[in-house]
Amino acid sequence: MFKVAVLVGSIRPNSSNLQFARALEKLALGRLQFDVIDLAALPFYDETLWANPPAAVLDMKQRIAAADAVLFVTPEYNRSIPGVLKNAIDWPSRPFGKSVWEGKPAAIVGATGGATGTAQAQAHLRSILVILGMAVMGRPEVYQTLKPGMIDADDLITDERTREFLLKWVDAFVTWIGRFAVPRQLRIAAE
Ligand code: FNR
Repeated sequence: MFKVAVLVGSIRPNSSNLQFARALEKLALGRLQFDVIDLAALPFYDETLWANPPAAVLDMKQRIAAADAVLFVTPEYNRSIPGVLKNAIDWPSRPFGKSVWEGKPAAIVGATGGATGTAQAQAHLRSILVILGMAVMGRPEVYQTLKPGMIDADDLITDERTREFLLKWVDAFVTWIGRFAVPRQLRIAAE
């Protein structure tokens, strides 16, 4: 089973993206183990804080380093990613040369009530992750427009077609992570 660090770009307790992440976790039961990182615990990025690094930053870096892959679940804010998510991406990319993003397999999904399904936010996010050296899965793309009741109180996807599509996404992500798992183990063994 692969361990996946999960970054949800909304810190609202009732976030639909958090609920979407939980629904994906249920669909991937037994194949992917999710570790949802609390982005609200991170201070705004400040280079001087590295002199005495905040515990939340060190904890996040350690959890990402330990994960086999990273999943980004993002809302779209004004046609881009929320600032809270960008802040959470910037911290583990530093200190210079000590980024924990390098070489990590990743996937991006996003949910919104809007018709464009976070497509533009995801495009921005993809361009950031690529320059960080992450191996971002290209497809299937998940631009999830959420309708009321689509995810029930037990985090189950109620719409059959959506559930089938997302199960295929889980299959693809598991396969994608597997492509990087052996080289990663070899690299860790050599360190
Ligand atoms: C939004 N929302 C939004 N939705 C969208 O599809 N495209 C957009 O560009 C925006 N822009 C935007 C800006 C700001 C500042 C806010 C607060 C919201 C709506 C957004 O998708 C909606 O609030 C989601 O429910 C937010 O995700 P969570 O918090 O439910 O996960």
